[in-house]
Order: sequence, then C-alpha cells, then structure tokens
Amino acid sequence: MTTHRLFATDELADGEAKTIELGGHEYACARVGDEYFVVDDTCTHAKVSLGEGIVDSDDCTLECPKHGASFSLRSGEALTLPALHAVQTYPVEVTEREVFVTIEGGES
Ligand code: FES
Repeated sequence: MTTHRLFATDELADGEAKTIELGGHEYACARVGDEYFVVDDTCTHAKVSLGEGIVDSDDCTLECPKHGASFSLRSGEALTLPALHAVQTYPVEVTEREVFVTIEGGES
C-alpha cells in the first residue's frame, strides 16, 4: 500500500475532473465541494478516459464523456447504462491543502 501526493487542493476546481498518471496507471480525480475522489480512469464500458467526464456535484457522480454512463464517485458503482461494471475507487486524504491517494500494491 503506497500513499502518493496528487496535487494541491486548489489545482482542481470544484465540480471538475482530471486524469493523473501514477506508476504507469491512469486515475480520474474529481472534486465535489471540499471532497476529492479518485477512481480508475478507464470507463468499464470502453477505453475512454473518465478524467474527461462530467462531475455531477449533486449526485456525487462522474459521467463518462463517450456514452454517458454514470459512476458513483463514492463507491465506483456503475449507476446507469451502458456501463455494467464498477470502477475501482481509492482512498483519498487531504492534509494541509494537499491531496493524497493510497494505492494498494502501488509503487512508491
Ligand atoms: S465508454 Fe464510457 S459509457 Fe461507453
């Protein structure tokens, strides 16, 4: 299990998402208010980057930019078709205006 610094809290605006790369794997990071979420970047329906998706702050979801499947940012669950499978979620911690993610089995 390895904890990585992602970015400063103000480097991701409220209601925005972006893709970051860590150890050769891509992750979608999203912000809802003062909460930050990290999920696998690749949509489980097809190989599309969820970091380019749309954050729904009211529902705390991330919508795939390709076909519109909606994923829970809290659980990763696929809430709408055409995606059937959840995306992996990762624990996030905010400390002194820095955002960190913990990746199980991740490289340091
Ligand atoms: S690629 Fe994401 S819903 Fe189709």
